[in-house]
Amino acid sequence: MNKTQFLDARNIGAIYMCGIIGVIGQDAPSLVVHGLKMLEYRGYDSSGVAVISEGTLEIRKNTGKLEEVEKKEKFSELNGNISIGHNRWCTHGAVTKENSHPHTDCTESIAVVHNGIIENYLELKEKLIANGHSFKTQTDTEIVPHLIEEKINAGKNFETAVKETCNKLEGRFAIVVVKKDEKQMIGARRGSPLVMGIGDGKYFLASDVPAFLSSTRKVIFLEDNEMAVIGSEAKILNFKTNVAVQRQVQEISWTAEEAEKGEYPHYLIKEIMEQGVSLHRAVNQDETRIKEVAQMINAAFGTYIVGCGTAGKVGLAGTYIFSKVAKKHINFAIGSEFPQYHDFLTPKSLTIAISQSGETADTLEAMEATKETGGKLASIVNVMGSTMQRMSDGYIMVNAGPEKAVASTKATTGQLAILYLLAFASAGKLPEGKQLLDKTCGAISGMLNKELTEKVKTLANKLKSHENIYIIGRGLNYPIALEAAIKLQEVSYIHAEGFAGGELKHGPLALITKDTPCIVLVGNDETRKDVLSNAREIKARGGYIIGISPENSEVFDEWIQVPDVGICSPIVNIIPIQLLAYFIGVEKGNDIDRCRNLAKAVTVK
Ligand code: M6R
Repeated sequence: MNKTQFLDARNIGAIYMCGIIGVIGQDAPSLVVHGLKMLEYRGYDSSGVAVISEGTLEIRKNTGKLEEVEKKEKFSELNGNISIGHNRWCTHGAVTKENSHPHTDCTESIAVVHNGIIENYLELKEKLIANGHSFKTQTDTEIVPHLIEEKINAGKNFETAVKETCNKLEGRFAIVVVKKDEKQMIGARRGSPLVMGIGDGKYFLASDVPAFLSSTRKVIFLEDNEMAVIGSEAKILNFKTNVAVQRQVQEISWTAEEAEKGEYPHYLIKEIMEQGVSLHRAVNQDETRIKEVAQMINAAFGTYIVGCGTAGKVGLAGTYIFSKVAKKHINFAIGSEFPQYHDFLTPKSLTIAISQSGETADTLEAMEATKETGGKLASIVNVMGSTMQRMSDGYIMVNAGPEKAVASTKATTGQLAILYLLAFASAGKLPEGKQLLDKTCGAISGMLNKELTEKVKTLANKLKSHENIYIIGRGLNYPIALEAAIKLQEVSYIHAEGFAGGELKHGPLALITKDTPCIVLVGNDETRKDVLSNAREIKARGGYIIGISPENSEVFDEWIQVPDVGICSPIVNIIPIQLLAYFIGVEKGNDIDRCRNLAKAVTVK
């Protein structure tokens, strides 16, 4: 991947963060619709399905959430053995039926679903128009079926036409293509993820594993510039070199149940409640990778953690964790700022990317910048086979299982745990770290009970009509105050801001008026006294103090008790806030798992 593959969103009419899927085998359309449901976290402004049956191609697509489109377009009526589908998430340009995928050629014989951005689409479109092609949409994707059509008209077979088309495209793409008179499905990728699932008499191609997890756990992750040609059998080749590629089938440890809501009304609450277990998986993983990355940190001259959004707040917490545990200075930058900040990188630098999806474009760009200077790369990711994991010299899996809600919860606590393990390992004290984290896992399983959820629900009722909520923390809990604000913003849609307790007197105190809710994150460490004193400053100005703390204090108007886990307090302190954001969101009738204007994997700059 090179820098030019990351596009500037301002230069292009339509930007996509989408989910794609293709299935070949019995019940293909219903498997595609199920896959789209599993991929909805990637985009949800329009959806579409194409089916090949007895030499015909049928496409049904529309705007709206998948469940609405599914009903409106009667996806359940579709039959056939080859089918592709798409969930679109457009942040620029119109959300219209025409712009929804799949897209077709002039003869409506070829259908394509696409995730990514084709940079040179305007130039290609002009040439195609000059050659007599007519376009129905404003998308960049539509040039793909027309290019394939052009090659087929020139006498190329389907496979060669797709291969030559891929070589014409600049930018990032994962595509799946079908043609009405072919018993094949072809997928290709560069820069955007595409994984092949191998089922019983079925093949799948999808943006992410949960799309087909109920059918198979056997997968092959396609690399950049590779295409999979799938009929009754499947082959993989490099479309640039035209050389066949042999790849080992991997078995995914995630289960289908983990990717489903089960008895819970929303993914978010399920993912919050399973944190005792997910954390245990993060902590009790094979130590080899942890030791490997710790060694990379110890060998580096300058280590930089990068991440965006919640992963960025975890990264900032990492700098405190390394200072406390390993007495080591680690730097942090948010992914989108790193390109303006990286001139000091050398071949001895190490960049550690933190990411749930492993596909966040801003973080990937920071990694690319490091690579260009010859520095080393490590990553802490949750999605196996993701771009970040594959481009890293060393990686550690978060093992949180599929995280479907747009708001990150169990991946967050897992990432924090990995940073603690890394810091302890880098200080040569890994067993001590594991012991502490094991205690934390147990404490979390214990605290996630009815008493806590009922208490937070009552608090949510009290806070739901407030316009502002402020959160303060000091030391290790300062980055968690920032993360708490993100949770409240994206799930409850309340203006929330996190501050370092010591900063209040430098400005934010002016925001406090009578009854302004302020959440105080307290760790049982040397910051306790000071943060409680900051709480008193707020209370003196009329603020309503909600303390999240192992011990009560006279300054708290409300006290949410959390277990005392020593320096691991950030991991337990964020959990009541996750619940609070959830219950306020539910009270307000918000779309809990699909936060307004946001997508799970932000694959554009
Ligand atoms: O997949 P990543 O962890 O790289 O995603 C980074 C952010 O987009 C993500 O953490 C975002 O802030 C979440 N919606 C927060 O809950």
